Amino acid sequence: MSTPFILLNLKTYTEGSGQRVHNLADAAQQVADESGTSIGIAPSYMNIHPISMHYALPVYAQHVDGAEPGAHTGSITAEALKQAGATGSLVNHSERRLTLADIDAAVQALKAQRMISVVCTNNDITTAAAAVLSPDYVAIEPPELIGSGISVSKANPEIITRSVEAVRKVNPGVKILTGAGIQSGECVKIARDLGTDGVLLASSVVKAKVPITVLRDLVSQL
Ligand code: G3P
Repeated sequence: MSTPFILLNLKTYTEGSGQRVHNLADAAQQVADESGTSIGIAPSYMNIHPISMHYALPVYAQHVDGAEPGAHTGSITAEALKQAGATGSLVNHSERRLTLADIDAAVQALKAQRMISVVCTNNDITTAAAAVLSPDYVAIEPPELIGSGISVSKANPEIITRSVEAVRKVNPGVKILTGAGIQSGECVKIARDLGTDGVLLASSVVKAKVPITVLRDLVSQL
């Protein structure tokens, strides 16, 4: 079995911005150190550099453009993310959908910088399509469960199983995350038992009264 990876997306939640980013990163760093689990954090662009300077956690961007450095006003390049201290980036998150050509360009741009690509998908068909592009990870997240408090592991384990099968068939080298409503060690264990390499999550930790308690629970059954 692969080493589990937990990727915490702070989105644009107020609870995940300003000084509170440091509280979340502190908690994630502490739980990563205690448990030996790899925990990554995806803050807003503004926090990539400070978080990467202060913590050993791998830092991810929430989006990257496939544009080359140059005359592309307003674009976020992989090169700039790397210089800011990012390890990788989400691509095609449900809240930041891209065309297939854009996804391909973003994955290639990350590869060119030797950065980790995590391509988000919404079902097993798009998961199979994303796997063809050879990202490091695909992350299957049924959109209707995102932020719902209802876990994909419990409400729709079939989509995880189908996605794992699809990736294994198309491109077995691609690792798999799942997300949407993930909130406990039990959710993470189910996801792992179904063949994933870890989870992508947000609200259960970011909006928790005591985030470290949720983080400890998430890794408790690994
Ligand atoms: O990127 C993680 C995400 O979309 C899942 O969000 O709040 O359901 O854990 P949440």
